[in-house]
Amino acid sequence: MSLLIKNGEIVTADSRYVADIYCEGETITRIDRDLAAPPGCEVVDARGKFVFPGFIDPHVHIYLPFMGTFSKDTYESGSRAALVGGTTTLIEMCCPARSDDALQSFELWMSQAVGKSACDFTFHMGVTKFNDATEAQLREIVRRGISSFKIFLAYKGAFGIDDTELYRTLKLARELGVIVTAHCENETLVAERCKELLAAGKTDPAQHHESRPPAVEAEGVHHLLTFAELTGAATYIVHLSCKEALDQAVAARQRGVRVGIETLIQYLTLDKTYAERPNFEGAKFVMSPPLRDARNQDVLWHGLRDGLIQTVATDHAPFDFEKQKPMGREDFTKIPNGIPSLEERINLLYTHGVARGRIDLHTLVNVASTQVAKLFDLFPRKGAIQPGADADLVVFDPHYRGKISAKTQHMAVDYSAFEGWPIEGRPSVVTVRGQIAARDGQFVGTVGRGRFLRRAPSHF
Ligand code: URP
Ligand code: ZN
Ligand code: ZN
Repeated sequence: MSLLIKNGEIVTADSRYVADIYCEGETITRIDRDLAAPPGCEVVDARGKFVFPGFIDPHVHIYLPFMGTFSKDTYESGSRAALVGGTTTLIEMCCPARSDDALQSFELWMSQAVGKSACDFTFHMGVTKFNDATEAQLREIVRRGISSFKIFLAYKGAFGIDDTELYRTLKLARELGVIVTAHCENETLVAERCKELLAAGKTDPAQHHESRPPAVEAEGVHHLLTFAELTGAATYIVHLSCKEALDQAVAARQRGVRVGIETLIQYLTLDKTYAERPNFEGAKFVMSPPLRDARNQDVLWHGLRDGLIQTVATDHAPFDFEKQKPMGREDFTKIPNGIPSLEERINLLYTHGVARGRIDLHTLVNVASTQVAKLFDLFPRKGAIQPGADADLVVFDPHYRGKISAKTQHMAVDYSAFEGWPIEGRPSVVTVRGQIAARDGQFVGTVGRGRFLRRAPSHF
């Protein structure tokens, strides 16, 4: 199997040039001008298009038992959607309940993906309790190729851990060189404010924001980073949504705390007025942390441009509007949290970032691919266009014009938070390890070909 991508403009995190890319089997083997196709080689004409390294989503939920239900995608539907949208590697959160066994959960999450995913994948291992048995199992999970943990300072009684568990998790991570990703919201404040709002008869989706305002997230970030400072662990804040939280993270970084920062495409493009839509439509836009006041969007775009924020993810967590979101019709605290966006991350980042002049092409590649690969021990196998790297490539057509719609999406959910939004540009060819997996909005890959990516810790 060989593939030649001709005349495209290759764009990486730090370079931009026109050349051909030759892939032998699963790997990029040559990059040069005027390469000739050997007999039997598949040729893609990329003239007038960009060629990016395959994009990596550092925060998705595919199998997610949560809030009394399950998120809608399977690895088959989720990986198809990812590939159509240019994402060639998924990092999923393995999220055991507190009562679950960590190792069994890891195996359960693996079984959801192996033989079912069309793209490559790995996991952040959720630490939703910590005791001696968990510690032994986490060591084993790291031996099996996981180099990042996930903790929740939110979701009291479900995934949330207490301060002793937080301290011990960070100490173990420091010892093992594992990076700890964290959902930062003060769970006690959220729980108390939810009780007060409900007691006052405030039950609609818009109240979700009132239950967890920016100060709740900023406290969570400060809390995590105090523990990181004292343990020396490498940390990564997932789904950072607002200026108050960013200020805390940047202040900690200036004190020498090791912290990477992720924001989401939803926070860059949507604001809290969406969750205030009448007739329960706001429920489509309920996630945690909540969509914020629009003034935060500029802060986040600037944060990306200036390198304060390292990555853009989706936190893809799809729940149907018809059947699942209404679990919280009378009580906003029961609305399953999540806004699906796995398929749209790159198109939206290009349309609202690059095409609007908010970020350049290199930043797009960096925050959605290369930085992710570096932080999570996948670089340069992923996140790079160079000989020896996996042939995960996105030929991107900047001239395409279209609209987002639930009717044409591949994600297994009944609505789009971006219904009718125009997009400027989209992937025209997407490859996974040398095989074409998506073409012009259609999946043409192989379900089950996706591979588990073993990772070795590097954050010592
Ligand atoms: O609302 C969200 N973010 N849902 C998914 C679970 C999580 O907190 O990441
Ligand atoms: Zn979260
Ligand atoms: Zn999440």
